[in-house]
Amino acid sequence: MSEVKKIKVKINQVEYEVPANWSIIQACHNNGVEVPHYCYHQDLSVAGNCRMCLVKASNAPRPVIACATPLAENMEIDTLSEDVVAARKSVLEFLLINHPLDCPECDQAGECRLQDYSYEYGRDHGRFHEEKNIRAKATLGPHVKYWGSRCIVCTRCVRFTDEISGTGELTVAQRGDRSEITVFPGQTLDNPLSLNTVDVCPVGALVSADFLYRSRVWFMHSTPSVCADCSLGCNTRVDVDKQNKIKRIIPRRNNEVNKEWMCDHGRLSFPYVYENRMNLPTKSNQEIPWADAFRMAAEALGGNDVVFLVSLWTTLEGMEKIKSLAAEKGSPVFGFGNASTKDKVFPGFTIYGDKNPNRAGFTATFGDLKSPSASDLNGKTVFVFGNVPRFEIPADLAQSLTSASKLIVVDFARGSFANHAKTQLVLSGLTHFEKNGTFVNRGGLRQGFSPVIEPVGFGRSEVELLDGILKERGKTAAAR
Ligand code: SF4
Ligand code: SF4
Ligand code: FES
Repeated sequence: MSEVKKIKVKINQVEYEVPANWSIIQACHNNGVEVPHYCYHQDLSVAGNCRMCLVKASNAPRPVIACATPLAENMEIDTLSEDVVAARKSVLEFLLINHPLDCPECDQAGECRLQDYSYEYGRDHGRFHEEKNIRAKATLGPHVKYWGSRCIVCTRCVRFTDEISGTGELTVAQRGDRSEITVFPGQTLDNPLSLNTVDVCPVGALVSADFLYRSRVWFMHSTPSVCADCSLGCNTRVDVDKQNKIKRIIPRRNNEVNKEWMCDHGRLSFPYVYENRMNLPTKSNQEIPWADAFRMAAEALGGNDVVFLVSLWTTLEGMEKIKSLAAEKGSPVFGFGNASTKDKVFPGFTIYGDKNPNRAGFTATFGDLKSPSASDLNGKTVFVFGNVPRFEIPADLAQSLTSASKLIVVDFARGSFANHAKTQLVLSGLTHFEKNGTFVNRGGLRQGFSPVIEPVGFGRSEVELLDGILKERGKTAAAR
């Protein structure tokens, strides 16, 4: 790849050397100089329609828009001068002319660019005494609603559907202050990436039907995490309310993995965290204390006929512990996970068909995944490490399991493993939202995560419960 030529520019009198093909806004943002903007988005084409990014450039007589103005050698850029600030104030006043100012009931309140910039550049009173033009609300698709009057027609949402999802459902209808976002006749905004339009909307015009009125943003706290619903591992931010309930998952920027996008499924699958949860370990469906469970699991582990069956949702740390235990006992390790579907490829994003977050971690730890046959499990004690949300045991694995002598299961839910006829003991596990761990994504990137909520019951991570079993085994050995 040919090197891009570097040029010297000055931003607010400080000299920088930057690629010659950058725009003014790129030079500013990449050097920590804020330029207010609505329509500019680093992963979308430049529209240059909101005019909020006005700055002064030494080669132009009037303020220019920073998002669409290329740099020039020795250009001097001013983002702070009085006339720039005055221009921004005027642009903001203009954008708010028809705005309903309904922040108290707007879902975006607290994270709205109109609020943020009004704080910095807004007037303390309105000068518009004419009647406001009211634009309608609309349901654009199953997950996205549109509040027309709040829209500043920045077209970020339209460009997302044109350029990233490539589905092209959205357009601008009408002209002037009648302009509004709408779906083409006969279409709905119903593609697997549709909720990204809500993220790119800088105001409260596009809102998520699944989050609408569920919580004010200032009542939630946010923790970085990683999506587990496919092998890509989109970086996420999980918003949790004061009752320890997950309310919303949105993408977090990682240019190597997901840029700033994620699929709707990855955002909306989390209710499994609250479904059919195991609370404590169980024996014959009766809850038992952890101490008893550790003792029973340690006894089962003491036999010579132990086999490990490890899911592709197990953390890397858990896999490493299982590996050393299996090596010590000379036990085979088999794997399982969700069946793969076809990749869904969009112009700017791919949703992978491998619906398992840690296949690469499994391969790195144990080698290629092998499913057990009936003879592999014949008469054996099978330690199952599950924790796969809403998992149904597939027919071939179910067939193999019928030959096992008994199952010792780790799972966070009373699912198909916990309810299996051969299951003797269930150790309650945790979802990835409740534990520390690492998944290795399809590109080999190790991505660590931490708990975003307190555990829903009294489950333990794979590492914690293996440590508990091994400690119990040590005690028993010492007493002999
Ligand atoms: Fe921009 Fe939001 Fe209006 Fe779309 S709905 S044009 S993203 S303000
Ligand atoms: Fe999760 Fe994969 Fe969707 Fe990303 S693309 S949000 S990792 S399911
Ligand atoms: Fe430059 Fe909108 S951000 S015109």
